[in-house]
Amino acid sequence: MEHKIALLGFGIVGQGLAEIFVEKGKSLAVDIGLNAKVVAISDLMKGSLYHPEGLNLAEALRVVKETGKLDSYPDESGLIRGMNSFQTIQETNADTIVELTFTDVKTGQPAIDHCKAAFENGKNVVMSNKGPVALAYRELSELAQKKGVRWGYEGTVMSGTPALRMPLVSLAGNTINEIKGILNGTTNYILTKMEEGMSYKESLAEAQALGYAEADPTNDVEGYDAQYKITILANVVMNGSLKREDVACEGISHLTPEDIQRAKEEGKRWKLIAACRRDGDRVIAKVSPESLPLTDPLAAVGGAVNAITYDCDLAGPITLIGAGAGRKETGFSILIDLINISRGQL
Ligand code: HSE
Repeated sequence: MEHKIALLGFGIVGQGLAEIFVEKGKSLAVDIGLNAKVVAISDLMKGSLYHPEGLNLAEALRVVKETGKLDSYPDESGLIRGMNSFQTIQETNADTIVELTFTDVKTGQPAIDHCKAAFENGKNVVMSNKGPVALAYRELSELAQKKGVRWGYEGTVMSGTPALRMPLVSLAGNTINEIKGILNGTTNYILTKMEEGMSYKESLAEAQALGYAEADPTNDVEGYDAQYKITILANVVMNGSLKREDVACEGISHLTPEDIQRAKEEGKRWKLIAACRRDGDRVIAKVSPESLPLTDPLAAVGGAVNAITYDCDLAGPITLIGAGAGRKETGFSILIDLINISRGQL
């Protein structure tokens, strides 16, 4: 069966996903059974296209790369231009809305309202935006369930590395008592470079140039990005009911080159650790820098790479290491949610 998709936002992740469809569309249909058809793209800056029978993605990618806009996408019978995000949700024939707009992480908007509109209209939503999952997880999951639709958000934590699906699916049956991870690539990159002798300022500038940092890097270095991600893990994987402000948060901006050298001399390494654990019926979480012994698997994870350890009662501690950001990697996180929705799996 055809899976019709609307993309809200056609930036790095949207284009990454479109490239995956162009390169692998046939094999995804034949081998995996995902017969995806992008019928709409709506981007606040680049413009909007809708064709109920599907858009030519190679052409959409080409015009955006050449002109930065979708305006010169060729005219064809049945093509509608200029629909805004809510029209795209409500008036197109898409089964699934892929929500990739620029979201204010403090309010979660406009993505929270996009989710509500989609669910009310009987449409699934897939996203890599942290805001709605960190701020409105219970409300939105209940609404999606009530309306009989799916909400996918694998990419909100560690992009395409299965930080959410692996514990929920492959580790089901375990009680996970603690989760501990390096969930922010920018700060891990800065700490790695500082240990090599680079200054804080230079290493942050490099992380920004490489595209790891948030639009406002304060969110990385003060720990807020990791705070959102551990809130998501605590609520989704450990069934907690934490709000972001329940998570104590300390970043890395106060660590000095001397702190880093001293840890090195002691056979340790500073990492920004986001952790949550069970405490009776409650789940508690925090983000703070920790100087880990080099024997800890998280200590060995350098550069912008992310890692997470799940402490399982049956399977023991399991550590997953992988990308936490990136065009293809986050594009893949959207793809895997679409595949599982198509297959009727979690
Ligand atoms: N700024 C984030 C990081 C990007 O450095 O990990 C992925 O959420």
